[in-house]
Amino acid sequence: MKNLGLRMKTIAVTAALASAVALASATAQAGSIVGSKHDLSSGGAGQGAASSTTTQICVFCHTPHGSDISAQAPLWNKALPDPATYTTYSNLGTATLDGNEAPVGSVSLACLSCHDGSQAMDTVLNAPGSGGFNASGAAFAGLAAMTGTPIPNLGTDLQNDHPIGIVYGAHEGPDTASYVATSNATVNGNLQYWVNSKGSADAGREKVDMILYSRADGKPRVECASCHDPHNGPDGVVNNIFLRIANTSSNVCLSCHVK
Ligand code: HEC
Ligand code: HEC
Ligand code: HEC
Ligand code: HEC
Repeated sequence: MKNLGLRMKTIAVTAALASAVALASATAQAGSIVGSKHDLSSGGAGQGAASSTTTQICVFCHTPHGSDISAQAPLWNKALPDPATYTTYSNLGTATLDGNEAPVGSVSLACLSCHDGSQAMDTVLNAPGSGGFNASGAAFAGLAAMTGTPIPNLGTDLQNDHPIGIVYGAHEGPDTASYVATSNATVNGNLQYWVNSKGSADAGREKVDMILYSRADGKPRVECASCHDPHNGPDGVVNNIFLRIANTSSNVCLSCHVK
């Protein structure tokens, strides 16, 4: 029996090795979060991921049940930071800023729940498995908070980052000619806006378009995920800075700014 137990263990280790090899080849998968810097699992490339004790990927950001809905971030599995902790772009007082800037919120607050370096990246509301829910969040996979200022850890002073929570230029202010026009569609009674990315045809809202996000006032705003798709770029390059389109010839910038 003892020998059988040992053999079973050997088989289990061999199986684990085989799946580690499978995982390593999965990291080559194009255009996927798997193996990217947003893969914080034991097989991923995220900061300190080597010490991560789980093979799950989505759990660091999403939970199917019991998510934090204090900002419009889909099924968010982390306690969202207090918007009052941030110093925002408009505090810089540039003479040229036209759009109304809302407090940090929406999907940007979700990004900052890791990218402001204030909580461990494995602090989640609902850890894997039965009975894993903790309303104030608990760490579960051995990860630390994000390091490296000013990037990738943006900190809480956002004056040195592209404005977020800012109303899209063409909708407010005197300078509409400086911005590419928006498109929109009503989905489930909610008016959704986007800007067709430079060089892409108007084929409805696509992940490669610059997505705009509305708050209670219904006005379209630029947020982190306007320019970034956290699940990796559509151009099939893993770790291509998670941009919605490649920034070749500054096409990300020129999708919105007429310059
Ligand atoms: C690093 C954080 C992070 C991880 C990990 C992550 N997501 Fe997301 N996800 C987000 C954010 C932020 C949004 C909102 C982005 C937006 O508005 O486009 C989102 C949106 C989504 C959406 C809706 C919009 C879309 O792009 O389709 C789906 C579906 C989704 N995630 C599924 C997944 C699945 C499945 C996994 C695991 C394989 C995963 N996500 C892993 C952060 C993450
Ligand atoms: C669960 C934690 C977590 C969340 C939430 C998260 N990120 Fe990240 N992000 C990381 C880690 C870890 C890295 C790798 C940092 C490094 O390179 O040291 C990273 C890196 C990045 C990078 C740089 C990639 C590169 O190739 O250098 C971008 C861009 C990025 N994140 C954008 C976002 C955006 C936008 C959101 C929200 C839509 C978001 N992240 C949400 C953990 C997170
Ligand atoms: C207006 C577009 C835009 C917005 C909004 C935006 N980013 Fe970025 N971000 C970019 C571009 C373009 C790059 C690539 C810059 C480069 O090539 O160095 C980038 C790079 C990054 C990087 C990697 C930097 C590096 O050099 O390693 C991180 C991390 C990041 N963004 C996070 C965020 C987060 C978090 C937010 C929201 C608080 C955000 N971004 C909002 C356009 C944007
Ligand atoms: C999703 C649309 C969008 C994209 C993409 C985008 N921007 Fe912006 N940007 C805006 C909006 C809206 C503002 C706010 C302008 C205002 O209200 O005056 C802004 C503000 C700025 C400002 C500050 C203006 C001021 O008066 O202080 C600069 C500089 C800037 N963007 C440069 C860039 C660069 C460089 C890129 C590419 C890396 C880029 N933007 C990508 C929409 C965008």
